[in-house]
Amino acid sequence: MRAAQLLFGIVVAGVIVGGGALAYAMRYGAIDPITPPNPSTFDRATVDKGKTLALLGDCAVCHTRPGGDPFSGGLPLKSPYGIIYTTNITPDPDTGIGKWSEVAFKRAMREGIDNEGHYLYPAFPYDRFTKTTDEDIHALYAFLMSQKPVKYEAPETALAFPYGIRLGVAAWNFLYLKQGPDAPDASKDAAWNRGRYIVEGLGHCGSCHSPRNFMGAEILAKVYQGGDAEGWAAPALGTHSLATIGWNEAAYVNYLIDGWDKNHGVTAGPMTPVINDLAEVNEDEVYAIAKYLASLGTPAGAKPAEQVYAAAKEKEYGAVTPPPTMKDPAAQRGQAIFGRLCANCHKAGGTPVPMALYSTVVGPNPSNLIHVIIDGVRPPKGARDKSMPAFGASVTDADIADLATYIRAQFTDRPAWTDIAAKVAEARAPKP
Ligand code: HEC
Ligand code: HEC
Ligand code: HEC
Repeated sequence: MRAAQLLFGIVVAGVIVGGGALAYAMRYGAIDPITPPNPSTFDRATVDKGKTLALLGDCAVCHTRPGGDPFSGGLPLKSPYGIIYTTNITPDPDTGIGKWSEVAFKRAMREGIDNEGHYLYPAFPYDRFTKTTDEDIHALYAFLMSQKPVKYEAPETALAFPYGIRLGVAAWNFLYLKQGPDAPDASKDAAWNRGRYIVEGLGHCGSCHSPRNFMGAEILAKVYQGGDAEGWAAPALGTHSLATIGWNEAAYVNYLIDGWDKNHGVTAGPMTPVINDLAEVNEDEVYAIAKYLASLGTPAGAKPAEQVYAAAKEKEYGAVTPPPTMKDPAAQRGQAIFGRLCANCHKAGGTPVPMALYSTVVGPNPSNLIHVIIDGVRPPKGARDKSMPAFGASVTDADIADLATYIRAQFTDRPAWTDIAAKVAEARAPKP
């Protein structure tokens, strides 16, 4: 065969395969618009159930901009590809989803396609929501359609080339979207199955707690091994947890309902709205989540909690010999700043748990600690007394870096962080 013929053959094959892929990608059509359903057609129990599911799925957390009406959208989400705005999911017929039939809504939840047949970006965690049952999707629909319609046009998402081409998401879905609910595991009890259903599905815990690949998809082989969330490190859960004191079911329950646990301290950052939502659902749901999380295991060789707690306390308040890492001049400057700004509360007899117990302090990178120093802690509803003032306005970037170096060196035996200055700059950058 001559080269020209070969080339021609390759081009023809390319057109057939490419055309097939294109036809596959373009297979979604528009779904006929409807007149917004009258909320009175949904029974109370279904709407209430939908409300719980919306809390478990944090729908309002993402679909509400600061100061905006709940569910009316417009919140900018930072992604590696640019800013993605959440949409208005109130039943307003013109700017919301009032004209969406339940079939269209279900297609969005299961397949990430809007009512007109456009691909949605996976910043909307439909790769997780797809696991929601038909019955629960119906209840969510009933709940959303019973909300007050809000006229608000959310800013349009306009990502740079090539991410702006929504059709490209077809490839993402082909590779990473596994549609539909998981079958219950008959060898486990109802609470465990309920917990798995929430954690793996609506709760989309893995969206933050799993690492992502270069295409922004969760690496499922490393599910819950720790990820990034809005510039925060979402700690590993289960056997890869870095927590100083291992988690158990009771600790998960305390943390997920109140936002505080005696062996782990307070929650902060993007986990706070998750906990505020969980505080509003029946506690059975949280017990189920805790049961499933506990079944993910803990790191091997953990020492008893009391022993670790005592050692953490000793390190913080006892007359221990400074670790060799304290020779670092940055750590010494940090120590002086700590004495001036922090030791007032973080001292023997103070209310906060020992520094060494916070995942913020033992985590894989200094981001969370830096955010806590800058913004303080605005605790969730269940732990109002665990608040900490913000120091962002009263410290320099160098002070923050020195504090982080000191805290890591003094209170932990983990390797020093190497990316502190870059993470401080990141945390100080203006928000979208
Ligand atoms: C992590 C943030 C996040 C959460 C949580 C979230 N969404 Fe969204 N959602 C988005 C984003 C971002 C979009 C827009 C995606 C796009 O423009 O491609 C979106 C789009 C949608 C759409 C398509 C609307 C339209 O006009 O095209 C629906 C329906 C929707 N979400 C429903 C829900 C429901 C129901 C929940 C809770 C169970 C929920 N979302 C939770 C981020 C989120
Ligand atoms: C929007 C991102 C996001 C989502 C969604 C999310 N988390 Fe988190 N989570 C975080 C971040 C960030 C932290 C660290 C908070 C801190 O440092 O105070 C965290 C902390 C935790 C911790 C404490 C871990 C430790 O070692 O300190 C647990 C447990 C946890 N999350 C469980 C869950 C569960 C269960 C879900 C789903 C129901 C969930 N998270 C959903 C971001 C998220
Ligand atoms: C006015 C009292 C007060 C001061 C001053 C203070 N803190 Fe805190 N801090 C708290 C309280 C209360 C908590 C939460 C208590 C708990 O978790 O048990 C907390 C929690 C923390 C946490 C854990 C947050 C998390 O989500 O993991 C860190 C880290 C921390 N503080 C560091 C500092 C540093 C560094 C300084 C000085 C720059 C400082 N604190 C100054 C009261 C204070």
